[in-house]
Order: sequence, then C-alpha cells, then structure tokens
Amino acid sequence: MSTLVTGIAELVTNDPEAGEGPLGTLAGAALVVSGDHVVWVGAARDAPDADTRVDVGGRAVLPGFVDSHAHLVFAGDRAAEFEARMSGTPYDGGGIATTVAATRAATDDELRGHLRALVEEMRGQGTTTVEVKSGYGLDVEQEARALRLAREVTEETTFLGAHVVPPEYAGRTGEYVALVTGPMLAACAPHARWIDVFCEPASAHAFDGDAARAVLSAGRDAGLGLRVHANQLSAGPGVQLAVELGAASADHCTHLTDDDVDALASGTTVATLLPGVEFATRSPYPDARRLLEAGVTVALATDCNPGSCYTSSMPFCIALAVREMGMTPAEAVWAATAGGAAALDRGDVGRLGVGARADLTVHDAPSYRPLAYRPGVPLARALAI
Ligand code: NIG
Ligand code: FE
Repeated sequence: MSTLVTGIAELVTNDPEAGEGPLGTLAGAALVVSGDHVVWVGAARDAPDADTRVDVGGRAVLPGFVDSHAHLVFAGDRAAEFEARMSGTPYDGGGIATTVAATRAATDDELRGHLRALVEEMRGQGTTTVEVKSGYGLDVEQEARALRLAREVTEETTFLGAHVVPPEYAGRTGEYVALVTGPMLAACAPHARWIDVFCEPASAHAFDGDAARAVLSAGRDAGLGLRVHANQLSAGPGVQLAVELGAASADHCTHLTDDDVDALASGTTVATLLPGVEFATRSPYPDARRLLEAGVTVALATDCNPGSCYTSSMPFCIALAVREMGMTPAEAVWAATAGGAAALDRGDVGRLGVGARADLTVHDAPSYRPLAYRPGVPLARALAI
C-alpha cells in the first residue's frame, strides 16, 4: 500500500544535497510512502502514481520532531514547586522525591494512562519519536515497571535509576549506587536501550563524577548506550565524563567551561539543550551559538517532566532556542529533528529521504519559519498516513 503526499509548499528533508540550504528544502514537493517508509521524494510535477493520495493543502512538511529527552512515567504534579520557583526558590532536584512518592503509589494503569496521554499530546505538536526515562521509581521493582511501561510507547527507553538518591538511602549514596549498578541494572537492562545519570555535584540529591562514572560503566558493560544529565546546575564533571566514555548525548549543558566546549567539539557526544528547563527554573540559557561555532552537534529536546520543565512542546523549545540561545530558525529546526536523531544514534528518523521512516509533521503554514516566528501558536501536528 503506497501513499502519495501532495500539496507540500515546502518540504524539509534535512539532506542538503536534496534541496536548498542546510535543511535541504524543496518547494512544490511530493513524497511517496510505502508501509512505514519513504520511497520517493521530489518535485510534485515528477511524482509517480500511488495507491492513495493525501493532499496537505499548501503546507510545509518536516521530519517529525525527535524529542530525545523526556521523563514521562510519573504520577502527580509539582505546580506548587513551580510557583515557589517563580517567586525566587531555586531548583535543586529536591522535589524529585515528591514525584517518586506519587509514582510508587500509582497503579500500572494510572501510569500507563498518563504516559499515553503525554505521548498523544506530543504527537499533536509534531513529535513522532520520543525517548522516555525511568527515574521516579528508584527501587528494583519500580524502575523495572517504569521501563516496561515506557517500552509500550517507544523503543527509546532509558534506565535512570541514578536520578537522585531516594529518601530511604539518605546519607548512603555508595550503597544506593551499588544497588543501581547491581540488582537494579540487572532487572532494568532487558527493558532499556540507554542508561543515564544525573551527574551534579552541586545538588545534594544527585551524583558526583565518581558515582556517575560507576553507573555509566556498569550500564555500558550491560550493553546499554550512555546518556548523561550534565552541567545543569553548575560546571561539573558531567560533560567531560560523557565525552570520555563516548556517551551519545550530554544533556542540559547549561554551565559550560571552555574545556567542556573543546571536549564536546573533539568527540562524538551530542550536546542536547533543553531550553524549557531554563524557562521554567529561571536559569541562564546555554549559549548554543558558542557550541555551534565550535563545531558541536546540538540537539533540542523538551525534558518534559513534572519538576524542572512540564512542557511537551518541541515548537516551544524551538522558539526559545531562537529567541534566547542564538540559534537561527533553520538551526533550531535541524536540532529538533536531525539533532535529536543524532542524540539517539538513529539514521532512520529526523530526515525525509528514501529509506527514512515516514514520520511526517505538517505545519499550518507554507514554511517552517513560523515555528519560531509565531510562538505558542499550535501550527505543528504529526500526520497520520
Ligand atoms: O532533567 N535534573 C534532573 N532531572 C530532571 C528533572 C526531574 C524533576 O525535577 O522531576 C531534569 O531536569
Ligand atoms: Fe531530564
């Protein structure tokens, strides 16, 4: 069964050889989908026949957004914490314990229903690939449960047992790291593609460089790919550890030294920026321009979670990246699509060319540009074919 998509005023391919500029844009384009994949891309006038036809009516079509960092398995909310922050209380990760308690008390169906609603909310804003972390269970059973639920909605599941030290291990971080790297990892690895750690010596709740190294090394030995919550609250060891261990992504990168930027530029680790967090924690935005000029691959993601940033909107993050972080609209769109794919080491998403997954986002405008130009306007949605 093949489908011809027509009426595309502007197609973003993310292949500079297929079209104009860094996004490889094609005006007056068409695209043919067969099964789950793109089998033809080109000018509408050259389009081949297909079994069915979808006319998007003169709109822009982009690769679906790849949200490579999200925490969607949780119960409850922390609106009161957000309000306190807006009055000056700083974010330090301490509120995570509140979500851990609510999540542990929730049934599978409650967690599943909320998770699925968030994934649908994301699709309604153009996201077609999402990474989902555990990290609000923090015991063997609860972390494995979170990952089993996450696997129901995505292949991109991440074991984040080392999110914070849970209350019952207060003052016993070493023992908790032994649990995470031992029985918890053994129970969770079958349900996860990635392992992550909140490496933040500036937080009383998170993990220092040595603990983070132990967690990541154990995860690598168990066959998982590496990701790191790095340099969110301070210029700590996370970014350089991520690069040294060959992590796919160092996420946050809010506070970077010149050595951190040099390390990112010299390695393969993607810098994943999460501007919704700076927005919702009143923190300084990372300087994306500095990273891009150093040659670092930059991704944008939401970090959707009940604490530091409760947005599911990639368009919102694109608008912030352009307004606050020195990215051009084209760079921000690339970072939210191809950049996210790079952060997840995926060649089949984040682009629209022959062989790519048929993950299409339609924009209610003739160009990708209004994503940043018309912030807060619901222009993007995933196209069901
Ligand atoms: O990426 N920093 C650590 N973890 C999340 C926040 C989780 C929470 O506050 O519930 C983050 O910002
Ligand atoms: Fe996060």
